Amino acid sequence: MKRLLSATFVTLLGAAVCVPAMAQFAKPEDAIKYRQSAFSVMGTHFGRLGAMANGKVPFDAKAAADNAAIVEAMSKLPHAAFIDGSDKGGNTKALPLIWTEKTKFIASGDKLMAEATKLAAVTKAPGLTLDQLKAAFGNTAGTCKACHDAYKEK
Ligand code: HEC
Repeated sequence: MKRLLSATFVTLLGAAVCVPAMAQFAKPEDAIKYRQSAFSVMGTHFGRLGAMANGKVPFDAKAAADNAAIVEAMSKLPHAAFIDGSDKGGNTKALPLIWTEKTKFIASGDKLMAEATKLAAVTKAPGLTLDQLKAAFGNTAGTCKACHDAYKEK
């Protein structure tokens, strides 16, 4: 049974790897759920960093680095899930403008990834200070706000 399961898993994995990028989501609803999940996990860990940056929880360099690493990883995921046709369906809060100015939207996502990468690097470096965390957190938060103001329903 175990062997059969792992053989199935390997087959599934192979199939998943071979699927071209454009066909990664069977339905618009799947893409919506996927990007919302990635944003949700990113938001949770970003919120923990924010609590630390704002003095609501004690400063802890290790926890900051751990949370920032997750934010960085998650920041890379949602953008590929704004596939054509996923402007509707599920309970999406994505505004139609995303699909009419896709290049600008993608640039906005690139800014997030760049700042999240810096945030992860800063928090991982030895001797992290609260001021450094605050600055890197603030820069990243600015990219969230800019994109939400333009492209997300309130
Ligand atoms: C490039 C644009 C963009 C950037 C940058 C961005 N977001 Fe979003 N975010 C969106 C859009 C669009 C949605 C709505 C997705 C949907 O409902 O389909 C969203 C949804 C969310 C949600 C709700 C997820 C859910 O449960 O439905 C959270 C939480 C979130 N973003 C947090 C963040 C945080 C935190 C950052 C910055 C660290 C950030 N976002 C950066 C575009 C962006």
